[in-house]
Amino acid sequence: MTVMPTTEPSTPRRSAVRRHYLMCRPEHFAVTYAINPWMDPAAGADAGRAVAQWEALLAAYRALGHEVSLIDPIEGLPDMVFAANGALVVGGRAYGAKFTFPERAAEGPAYADWLRKNGFPDVLLPEHTNEGEGDFLTLDHVILAGTGFRTDIAAHQEAQEFLGRPVVTLRLIDPRFYHLDTALFPLGGSNVAYFPGAFSPGSRAVLERLFPEAVIADEADAAVLGLNAVCDGRNVVINAEATGLIGTLRDHGYEPVPVDLSELRKAGGGPKCCTLELRP
Ligand code: ARG
Repeated sequence: MTVMPTTEPSTPRRSAVRRHYLMCRPEHFAVTYAINPWMDPAAGADAGRAVAQWEALLAAYRALGHEVSLIDPIEGLPDMVFAANGALVVGGRAYGAKFTFPERAAEGPAYADWLRKNGFPDVLLPEHTNEGEGDFLTLDHVILAGTGFRTDIAAHQEAQEFLGRPVVTLRLIDPRFYHLDTALFPLGGSNVAYFPGAFSPGSRAVLERLFPEAVIADEADAAVLGLNAVCDGRNVVINAEATGLIGTLRDHGYEPVPVDLSELRKAGGGPKCCTLELRP
């Protein structure tokens, strides 16, 4: 009788890099307006439950050894918990946000102000509409930038000029995946995971060319905001409902860290949305 090996073919050893994140406790969280298809003001949301889930996300980051700073929430800005939208911070420089909808407009200056006072004096107040890391995802050699629903292509050029990093435009076509970070996340500095159905044919071809080794997610994982995940090179903090993608990531040598952010998903957000990375 032949004994079959029980171990998988060897996967590369992944290593984590310590990160610095900025988060905002969802004390004033609510769904009072609808600016994406996930939001239903009639159904509302429970701020207490949102805070409890968010506390667990914060604890997960700290348990992984990451540094987390906090910005004070502001009453009347129910989406301010989604810190990723507040700016794009690369190489110690901060490209500020300019929100698409008036409901969130005041968040841009609030995040810019915090950054200026907390070690990032070099903040550019943008001329063009952009929602920070919601639509800008930073890898080692390139910044991927979404457009189609929120961030203007002119902001991609503005960010490239300010940060001195090549910015590659990707077009989003499905309103459920209105920010790039709902459809794609970096797996460390040189690879990504994404849901192809969220992108235009041309952008899909760009992604295939840039990332032939990408982890491909399916619609079921995308539909629970499984792509709104945060990877430190090894650990992937990800919505627990994204069971298929969690298995695939494990097969690729990553360590999934499942979290429950179901209350925040009622506003269209997940782990990444709650997390702005501060890159020195
Ligand atoms: N309700 C917020 C909006 O529609 C959710 C933002 C989620 N943030 C993100 N980075 N995808 O603007």
